[in-house]
Amino acid sequence: MAKVTYIKGKEPHKLEKRLIFRNVDRKGWDPSISKYLSDGGYKALRKALRKKPAEITDEVKRSGLRGRGGAGFPTGVKWGFIQPGNKKPVYLICNCDESEPGTFKDRYIVHQDPHQLIEGMVISCFAVGAEIAYIYIREEFPEAARIVENAIKEATKEGFLGKNICGTKFNCEFYVHRGAGAYICGEETGLIESLEGKRPYPRIKPPYFPAAMGLYMCPTIVNNVETLCHVKHIIEMGGEKYADIGMPRNTGTRILCVSGDVQKPGYYEVEVGKMTMGELLNDVCGGPLKGRKFKAVIPGGSSAKILRCSDTYNVACPPETEKRDISFEEIPLDFDTMAACGSMAGSGGVIVMDDSRRMSWVLNNINEFYAHESCGQCTPCREGSTWMKKITARLVAGEASPDDLDTLESVAYQIDGRTICAFGEACAWPVESMIEKFRDELLAETVEGNAHSPRNAEQEAQRRYLKDAVAYADKP
Ligand SMILES: Cc1cc2nc3c(=O)[nH]c(=O)nc-3n(C[C@H](O)[C@H](O)[C@H](O)COP(=O)(O)O)c2cc1C
Ligand code: SF4
Repeated sequence: MAKVTYIKGKEPHKLEKRLIFRNVDRKGWDPSISKYLSDGGYKALRKALRKKPAEITDEVKRSGLRGRGGAGFPTGVKWGFIQPGNKKPVYLICNCDESEPGTFKDRYIVHQDPHQLIEGMVISCFAVGAEIAYIYIREEFPEAARIVENAIKEATKEGFLGKNICGTKFNCEFYVHRGAGAYICGEETGLIESLEGKRPYPRIKPPYFPAAMGLYMCPTIVNNVETLCHVKHIIEMGGEKYADIGMPRNTGTRILCVSGDVQKPGYYEVEVGKMTMGELLNDVCGGPLKGRKFKAVIPGGSSAKILRCSDTYNVACPPETEKRDISFEEIPLDFDTMAACGSMAGSGGVIVMDDSRRMSWVLNNINEFYAHESCGQCTPCREGSTWMKKITARLVAGEASPDDLDTLESVAYQIDGRTICAFGEACAWPVESMIEKFRDELLAETVEGNAHSPRNAEQEAQRRYLKDAVAYADKP
């Protein structure tokens, strides 16, 4: 493979390890198949086609790859749910909805390196026995859809897609499907409904686990863009060697999307669990803005529970098995430790807030999003998300009572675990965690809190501004 240099000003940080983003911002690179082939592209596919499908799934299991779409489910295990000898067609769906707020990685893969995705997908199709695959691209990415469609044409012309791929008997066709623009289309069963031409109402599970009953009631594997790209590298280097990257149970690299109050927000690919939160925020992202201190971080997209930067966490950091107290900055960025700290690594969207941020405003912003995006199918989510938004809008405007906070908390806990899809938790967790971690600050924003500590002129001006903004946003 050729030596890689990057566009000036877009060079990766020295603590990064670029695998999936190797070609993103690469000097002289473009998304054409000729560039991809000149750099060893589609060799992994040829290698995979010489194996048996089950051997590829075993390789992916050995690699320890976990899904990068949000839940971190082991990819090889998911593929293994397809029953051998099943008579129905099997489908593979690439989830390129990328709708989780704070997440911006998949779009760069499809814009700048679409053939990496196609190669990973063809290998995955071969492994699970799919002859048709769909790439579901959100409505807001028209350019991505155009680039991927062109890449599919190029790959078909070169014999990497279509009939008798690379001279074997394996046939596979890809279709791009464009969403109509809704967060819930990222939820895999909502996505499947949308792909079938219906409203994206998530399906009740069980029985509708996609591997058992997915697209057109046939076995279906849904994987995230980044996950599918990793498959190419697993075949290239072998599952065991891939598993040496990162940490045990938390293998490989992953792309973190850092936004908010840091000097250098952006996308960074790191070995899973090898970097701590402090290294990411201070070394890679350049630390807090001038004169500010980090206050809180949402580590895995807006659905993840918020972490307070001043807290101590009692966890076992892999490969250690004993628990010990660590500071926020010492948290290793892996799936398991993040869960042990009470949040999740989720989709890799790291949203940073400094001490200039008012948590009532942050929470209201999140609540507005979820109230808008609930598909409305189940009552706790439909009614609860709007109710929570109305309460935090009052809080922001300085008109909420302390009882409102109790109501807010109670509504969140009544959504959590009582809905058809995980959107319920996605909208409840930010509220639950924000009240748990910042109750005093939120109480100080209620009518009673205001009476005890009157606002200064600047705070009052901000309150009036936010009140107008909320009134404007509430207009039908
Ligand atoms: C409300 C909601 C939105 C989601 N949005 C996305 C998304 O935009 N992209 C994605 O890959 N997964 C998303 N997911 C997760 C998918 O349902 C599914 O678990 C994932 O695509 C599986 O891929 P993976 O195993 O490769 O992670 C979402 C889940 C929920 C509950
Ligand atoms: S939890 Fe919300 S988004 Fe999910 S099915 Fe129910 S109403 Fe729809």
